[in-house]
Amino acid sequence: MITYNIISEIKEEILRKRKEGLTIGFVPTMGALHDGHLQLMRKAKEENDLLVVSVFVNPIQFNNPEDLEKYPRDIKKDSDLLISVGCDILFFPTVEEMYPPGETKRTYDFGILENVMEGASRPGHFNGVGVVVSKLFNICLPHKAYFGEKDYQQLAIINKLVEIESIPVEIVPCPIVREEDGLAMSSRNARLSPDDRKSAPYIYEVLKEAKENSEFLCVNRLKQFVINQFADRPEFDVEYFELADDVDLQPINTHDTSVGTMGFIAVKLGMVRLIDNIRII
Ligand code: PAF
Repeated sequence: MITYNIISEIKEEILRKRKEGLTIGFVPTMGALHDGHLQLMRKAKEENDLLVVSVFVNPIQFNNPEDLEKYPRDIKKDSDLLISVGCDILFFPTVEEMYPPGETKRTYDFGILENVMEGASRPGHFNGVGVVVSKLFNICLPHKAYFGEKDYQQLAIINKLVEIESIPVEIVPCPIVREEDGLAMSSRNARLSPDDRKSAPYIYEVLKEAKENSEFLCVNRLKQFVINQFADRPEFDVEYFELADDVDLQPINTHDTSVGTMGFIAVKLGMVRLIDNIRII
């Protein structure tokens, strides 16, 4: 694995590889790698000649400074994991390299997609994701880029970004990877206290029950059902549970079997904010 910190150097190398006819599979990350990331990388490695991974904790997508400060960083551990999955090229830039002082950042209009759920709860977050992913695509020039469905709204935003900017890349969605007890893998899980870690799988249990009950309960009752499930679990603070269509992520008011429908949840457990989702229809 070769590591690059400088944009012009990695870009030159990738252009050279593309000219040789090699295909590039890209997985952008913020480090703190877990098996969810590694699954994306294994798939990217399988489907392309070269696996390129970026590790960059993107400051402009954090709307909470404490979250940014506490974000786990361990490049030695990450590098070992990257080598174990056969990563060919690692891009590990500094903040100054990605955001030279004085450079103006683009503002995107992702339309209705960014006004709901994570967009509404975390102002500026998706713009920060759009800016960094657009830059990373421009640097790493992937044929295919891999994103996990745990961050389902982010995936929809990336699809929109690619459309807005006409970026010639195929976005490959990958299913959520879960711990054995059902908790969706996330870098944030490492910040849960031991007690909260024991409680955390309850989120997915409730989502599964919601899916089962969607056959019997109307949308409003189903939402109330989910909220009620947390009523006697004071360790959880539910920020939202929403039923939304699977393309524009707009809330739905009635079940309609012709509309792909997902259930989305965000909860705070201790000091850690977790999200998860499940397909309902
Ligand atoms: O999902 C993430 O880890 C980040 O949002 C991403 C896509 C790497 C952009 O910083």
